[in-house]
Amino acid sequence: MASKCSIALLALLTLYLIVICAGAKVPAIIVFGDSSVDAGNNNFIPTIARSNFAPYGRDFFGGKPTGRFSNGRIPPDFISEAFKIKPSIPAYLDPAYNISDFATGVTFASAGTGYDNTTSDVLSVIPIWKELEYYKDYQKRLKAFMGEKRASEVINESLHMISMGTNDFLENYYTISSGRRSQFSETQYEDFLVGIAGKFIKDLYGLGARKISIGGLPPMGCLPLERTTNIMFQHDCVQGYNDIALEFNSKLRKMVMKWRTELPGVDLVFSNPYFIFMYIIRRPSVFGFEETSVACCATGMFEMGYACSRAGMLTCQNADRFVFWDAFHPTEKTNRIIADYLVKTVLARFM
Ligand SMILES: *[C@@H]1O[C@H](CO)[C@@H](O)[C@H](O)[C@H]1NC(C)=O
Ligand SMILES: *[C@@H]1O[C@H](CO)[C@@H](O)[C@H](O)[C@H]1NC(C)=O
Ligand SMILES: *[C@@H]1O[C@H](CO)[C@@H](O)[C@H](O)[C@H]1NC(C)=O
Repeated sequence: MASKCSIALLALLTLYLIVICAGAKVPAIIVFGDSSVDAGNNNFIPTIARSNFAPYGRDFFGGKPTGRFSNGRIPPDFISEAFKIKPSIPAYLDPAYNISDFATGVTFASAGTGYDNTTSDVLSVIPIWKELEYYKDYQKRLKAFMGEKRASEVINESLHMISMGTNDFLENYYTISSGRRSQFSETQYEDFLVGIAGKFIKDLYGLGARKISIGGLPPMGCLPLERTTNIMFQHDCVQGYNDIALEFNSKLRKMVMKWRTELPGVDLVFSNPYFIFMYIIRRPSVFGFEETSVACCATGMFEMGYACSRAGMLTCQNADRFVFWDAFHPTEKTNRIIADYLVKTVLARFM
């Protein structure tokens, strides 16, 4: 008698668990940000911030240079794969894909952009507000494609990811031509950017997003381009930039905590790549890397985009030995390690 009951109970419990799991599934990953998550949107706007030529993409499917700033895949691709959705996430502006592709994942990201409008102006790329406009356009198309009700469910259940900020500091604030340094102290600029990030999250929430991940800054003082210019300190990481990244990240984390209590039903997380990235740079051999300070592409000291392509004959043979692919961007292998880490530590809750 007792055992019959427990079997019935177990069956009920199993059913209940199945229902919960089905409800929790993420149907799509929807991405906003900069080159860390751009799959080629810049190919379709007039900018020089591009990478849709060799040697970019040489380790991607079919060796195709898609506009991803790496030799292969970037973190959203690996995250999508870990969620068992698909092995890569297409760029919204790429006419080779349509709404039936975007229904399971899309990126609105644009290499060179940032939270600050004046950052996207530097290389004439897509500003953050325009990424949001594209997202609204996407929602309209999704509704026309699968019906209002199903589209709302998909939006509600999809994982929205935001990754940018490095360019606001390195391509804008700290450059000689930037007007930002006369307007903001470093602390004020961090607060300004975090304010924009917070507003962006609120806007996504207002459009129906509930599962949201916002990414922190990497140890940006360790990008090869920054190390190259750090002559005083034997080309070590630029400590000042890393300190700013840490400070900015802690402000982002605070903002995330605040929104979690203020936006009902939101499942908002902070995905911090800083420490795993730093660990890779300080303990490369743990992962089978041999070179951390110089990139694979060209001389590895300055080149990215077209410059990387022009000096292509200097490019390394095996990118898996390098942490960085070009002077500003990680190799596919680094991207995979960081994505796997974030999936296991932060994003697993959405699975
Ligand atoms: C999307 O493109 C595929 C082929 O690439 C096609 O089969 C499909 O009908 C298209 N869907 C829509 C909604 O346009
Ligand atoms: C950026 O530009 C857009 C469009 O002009 C504007 O709506 C937005 O308020 C600007 N953002 C900031 C922080 O000034
Ligand atoms: C949105 O998803 C949450 C779970 O994440 C669920 O509780 C809620 O009912 C859903 N809302 C709609 C409108 O589908």
